[in-house]
Amino acid sequence: MLIAQITDLHVVGKDQLCQGRVATHAQLREAVAHINGLDPRPEVVLATGDLTDHGTIEEYDVGREILTVLRPPVYLIPGNHDRRDVFLEVFADHSYLPRPGAPFAHYVIEEYPVRLVGLDTTIPGKSDGVLCDQRLAWLDTILHTAPSRPTMIFMHHPPFRTGIRWVDAIGLHGARKMEAIVARHAQVEWVACGHIHRPIQVAWGGTMAGTATSTSHAQVALTLTETSGFDFRFALEPRAVQLFLRDPGYGFLSHVSYVSGAEGTYQCGNLSHLREVFQRRYEEMCRTEFDAASPSRRR
Ligand SMILES: [Fe+2]
Ligand SMILES: [Fe+2]
Repeated sequence: MLIAQITDLHVVGKDQLCQGRVATHAQLREAVAHINGLDPRPEVVLATGDLTDHGTIEEYDVGREILTVLRPPVYLIPGNHDRRDVFLEVFADHSYLPRPGAPFAHYVIEEYPVRLVGLDTTIPGKSDGVLCDQRLAWLDTILHTAPSRPTMIFMHHPPFRTGIRWVDAIGLHGARKMEAIVARHAQVEWVACGHIHRPIQVAWGGTMAGTATSTSHAQVALTLTETSGFDFRFALEPRAVQLFLRDPGYGFLSHVSYVSGAEGTYQCGNLSHLREVFQRRYEEMCRTEFDAASPSRRR
């Protein structure tokens, strides 16, 4: 199964620039076209929050219109720049979402080979996030109901420290409690997050967790020193879509597919005479390595 993650779209009002300089609408359109053109095309797209910049109806309407062009189904969760109440109203026709007025916007998608658990980490009016006892209990219960189904959790605030101090300051309360729950459920194969506007991967809770590059906004600058860590810097680095491929030999692995700053693929010399040789070698690798059971790599 191939899953795409888009994140931190920060859609603003019609004809506006985000932060007065980032053309998030045009960039989201570009990302949508990029996903539609991927071969193979992802079966689903997960949008991990900060869908809009201020959570207004106008912003959601703009974002919704752009996302309508997306060919795979998209599953949305809110981030700290969203407003849960407005989000649930505007996307009331997304049948997987709780009804408008629900206390949280979390849910489970069951119809794919990978079980998808969307978590709502938002606190109305705040930049940091939380998994309160109620949300943690829901997660634990959900994970108990399907212990043998490969599961991906997706959420906005990452449950780990990134080393960039100003974003860690608006991190996730309840992260350690979540880690203890996930560690008890071996079927969780990845925890995909947004919020950081940078790609990070970490071994966490007995599984893998990570954040993704912003799909249609600037990236958070990589500032890892104590002084620079509170500079609130962004960087106009390439935008990307995070891809998750569930490989039969390895479980999940993740690729970055760049939307910007890339000029497409090119062929390395005229090596077409090697095509058959490489195909035979690949088939041999599949037989001896990739498709062979590997208990140390599998959970
Ligand atoms: Fe964001
Ligand atoms: Fe965020």
